[in-house]
This record gives sequence, structure tokens and C-alpha cells, in this order.
Amino acid sequence: MKLKYFGHSAFQIQSGKYSILIDPFLDDNPVSKTKSSQVDANFIILTHAHGDHLGDALKIAKRCNSLFIAVNELAEWLKSKGAKAHNMHIGGAHQFEFGKVKFTIAHHGSITPDGQYAGEPAGVVLKIEGKNIYHTGDTGLFYDMKLIGEMNNPIEFMLCPIGDNFTMGIEDAVKAVELVQPRNVIPMHYNTFGLIKADPEEFKSSVTSKGFNCIVMNFGEEIEI
Ligand code: NI
Ligand code: MN
Repeated sequence: MKLKYFGHSAFQIQSGKYSILIDPFLDDNPVSKTKSSQVDANFIILTHAHGDHLGDALKIAKRCNSLFIAVNELAEWLKSKGAKAHNMHIGGAHQFEFGKVKFTIAHHGSITPDGQYAGEPAGVVLKIEGKNIYHTGDTGLFYDMKLIGEMNNPIEFMLCPIGDNFTMGIEDAVKAVELVQPRNVIPMHYNTFGLIKADPEEFKSSVTSKGFNCIVMNFGEEIEI
């Protein structure tokens, strides 16, 4: 299985014949080397509807005939735009062809670009090829992360925001890692623009000193996981 990081919160997982995108913010993402016309997706998972997460999702879905996976209100909005979507909600899991998807809570907001309520923002736990991957979405620190770690033990990869201002900053993200107890943590949602400047190496040294493995992925980097 391959994990590619485009920058911000945008990732691609390639598992066998399946390409799964999470929060594909590419064309207007100043740090993404990849444009939306260069990616394919069978499935697109959205954590919430903010522009820096919805990104180019509709464009990609239209070209690739992708299936969206999102919380109910956002899924309905995507359908109203002509896309295919599988409606889910927080706490619910569903087995797809590529693996299992479960939505978790996230403390944040969510509104579509045309001003519609898009349901609650979410995080997502994926189980693909037997590995649990937790993308927290945009969120502040919350104690129930401990429960997410316990119920999906072990979290092989935690994708965790560190950019501050809109989400956890480094200090809270370190605590989040202690609560979730992942085998590996990958920082995200930083250095895309000035307001969310953070040093991933500072985060790495903090979590490493607490015994966790941290992988700082370059923007555009792909790793085998
Ligand atoms: Ni957001
Ligand atoms: Mn965001």
C-alpha cells in the first residue's frame, strides 16, 4: 500500500487497484506539486466541507466517476452537485471494497462554499490491508482521542494537524499523540500559508522524546506503508 502526501491535509492511499483520496485540496494549494488533473480516484473521503479540504474533489469525482464518502449532510450536498456519494455519520463504520471506513468526532466547523450547513466535521479511521490509519481532520485536542486509539488499536498511522490557529498546534498535537498511542504519526495542516506556520521537526523531536515514531513527509512525497 502507498501513502502520498500532497501537503495540507490532502493524502492519497493506493491499495491494489484502488485509489482513495482524502481532502484533495490541490489546485489552489500553494504547496502542492500535483494538480487535480494529475490524480485519479475511485473513492474520495472528505472530513468536512471547508474549501481547503473539499478542494478539487468535485472536479476529480466528475472526471474519474469517484464515489464520495462523507457525513450525511455533506454527502447530500455533493449529490445535489451531481456526484455519487455514500452517506455515513460519526460513530458509524462501513466496509467498502478497499477497506473499512469509520467516522469519528472532530471539534471544528463545516460549511459548503455556497454557504450550506454541511453537518458535523469529522475525522476518519480507515482499515486497509489490516492497518488502521487515523486522519483526525481539522480539530482541536479532545480527550476522546484516547478512546479512538483504544477502539482501533493499534493505530498504525495517525495523520495529525500541527499548524495551530484553526486546529491543534504542536503542543496539543503532542498530547493527542500520547492519547492515541499510534505506531507512527505524520504531521499535516501546516506551512500551507502564513497563518499555519509550524516546524514539523520541532513536533518530531517532541513526540520522539516520548517514544513515538514520527514521519515528516515532504509535500509530494509517497511512501510505502
Ligand atoms: Ni477546516
Ligand atoms: Mn483546514
